[in-house]
Amino acid sequence: MENIIENFFGSRLEFLESYKSGEPVVVHHPPEKFKDLMELKYLSSLESLLDSWPCEVNAYSPGIADEVNSSQVSPKQARELFSKGSGLFFDDPNRFEETLSVWLESLRQEMGFSHMTYSRSLIYAIKKGEGTSAHFDQNINFVIQISGSKKWWIAPNTSVENPMTRYTIGTEADPELDSYLDEDLPTEFPEESLEFTLNPGSVLFLPRGAWHKTEATEDALSLNFTYSAPTWIDMLQTALRGRLAMSPYWRQTADFVTDPELHTEAIAMFDTLLDQLKTDVPSWQARDILGAIEE
Ligand SMILES: [Fe+2]
Repeated sequence: MENIIENFFGSRLEFLESYKSGEPVVVHHPPEKFKDLMELKYLSSLESLLDSWPCEVNAYSPGIADEVNSSQVSPKQARELFSKGSGLFFDDPNRFEETLSVWLESLRQEMGFSHMTYSRSLIYAIKKGEGTSAHFDQNINFVIQISGSKKWWIAPNTSVENPMTRYTIGTEADPELDSYLDEDLPTEFPEESLEFTLNPGSVLFLPRGAWHKTEATEDALSLNFTYSAPTWIDMLQTALRGRLAMSPYWRQTADFVTDPELHTEAIAMFDTLLDQLKTDVPSWQARDILGAIEE
């Protein structure tokens, strides 16, 4: 497979500059560029997709057009719901189509994302005039517009840098997300946004955490490759767990932590373990940890 990033964005170096600074990137290619994808039975048309799809489809329920407000339906019901305006999304078509698996994995490798990354492919079908509600995602997203056209509004996220969960305006924020917000989450989509229209062959890089919402200006089918790559927290957590699991003492049940009488015993045990850890940590090297995780 040729280099996907260069195929999408031209220069890899230039793209990585935008990636690192959290800037969205849109490139409009002629649709022929993705002919191989567009001819797949899952992507050639919504009809063909629904006819071929071997399992349930997610359909947005009335109200907020977002995955938090969706249900799983049969392809037959999905066809009916789409005609009434429900957006549809199809999880992990790479399970059934090897070509998409190759793209998904190749792009992960080209981006240098960890082996622990949760890589996902998704197909979205949005009816003309409908869209997706304002939200941000914790993942890194690459979108290829397959058919129809869709408007995207993208805005920087001033409430939180590097969110670890997604959030949709009008829903309840995850308590952990709430704990590290820099400012309150807005109740409306930020005014200062960029507007793009994706047509067949257009490619979009959507930075992690950026606000976005969409509206289809024609019935639209798009293919997404999303990556929930581990944070440094995840890296350390994995390494730490691997290391501590070697010790039968760390593997002990954390006994009596809520027992009013034996609580001091719990504190003493935990302190002993933490003291041991303190003597171990100074020799830790990033290179060794990454070597152990990514080998
Ligand atoms: Fe999204």
